[in-house]
Amino acid sequence: MRKKIAAANWKMNGTLTEARQLAEALVHASFSLHDHQQVVICPPFVYLMMLREMFAQQPHWHIGAQNCFTEVSGAYTGEISAAMLASIGVEYVIIGHSERRQYFHETGDMLARKLDVALQHGLKPIFCCGEPLDVRQQEGQDAYVLQQLQDSVFHLSAEQLSRLVIAYEPVWAIGTGLNATPEQAQQMHAFIRSCLAEQYGAEIAQSLTILYGGSLKAANAAELFACPDVDGGLVGGASLKAAEFIQIVHALSA
Ligand code: 13P
Repeated sequence: MRKKIAAANWKMNGTLTEARQLAEALVHASFSLHDHQQVVICPPFVYLMMLREMFAQQPHWHIGAQNCFTEVSGAYTGEISAAMLASIGVEYVIIGHSERRQYFHETGDMLARKLDVALQHGLKPIFCCGEPLDVRQQEGQDAYVLQQLQDSVFHLSAEQLSRLVIAYEPVWAIGTGLNATPEQAQQMHAFIRSCLAEQYGAEIAQSLTILYGGSLKAANAAELFACPDVDGGLVGGASLKAAEFIQIVHALSA
């Protein structure tokens, strides 16, 4: 059975006190998650170790980073490597978020390299793809997302690909309050799966988890998660409110 994931991307939000309060509220909430269901919390780097400790006894909960650098070590002031993340027990890492692509000029080549180093160190990358508004308005989303996969993912072996999670995050839906409709999400997720099937075969494509991200909230999670090719979500703003994110996790396990 395909893994279903509710992932929280806290982005650059919260002081230490706020991060601890939010994590505590999640730890104390009760969930009935099945073996194929997971929650992944991706806080800012500085809170990773605290959260790993706080969630250590929660079997379905995992910790992820929001980024890692292309190199393993060396004179790269301010950067964090995949090796460092693995060494503190982080399991997931978001790679290629549209905010990294847009504000930090991360290219397809850089993201390919980041996927390589993350996989080399045993991390599970959550690879983000998705088209901006002008591309959607011209109905160019399929070609755009296929190009993102070709640029950064298709050099991986089938074994490497099997350790990836894909997140479809249309840029026009991120932080705008305007989520993709279930029909739009399902269409893109099925398209991404078909691209992966063509490159790697149907079996592996069917086994991959593809998350939806972009203005996902308690009010729309159930209808998006009900789409056959939507295997959960990558949640930004709504993951900063405990009650809201708890409802999203419940929608995953409903
Ligand atoms: P929002 O849920 O705030 O739209 O952000 C989505 C996102 O970018 C998750 O990575």
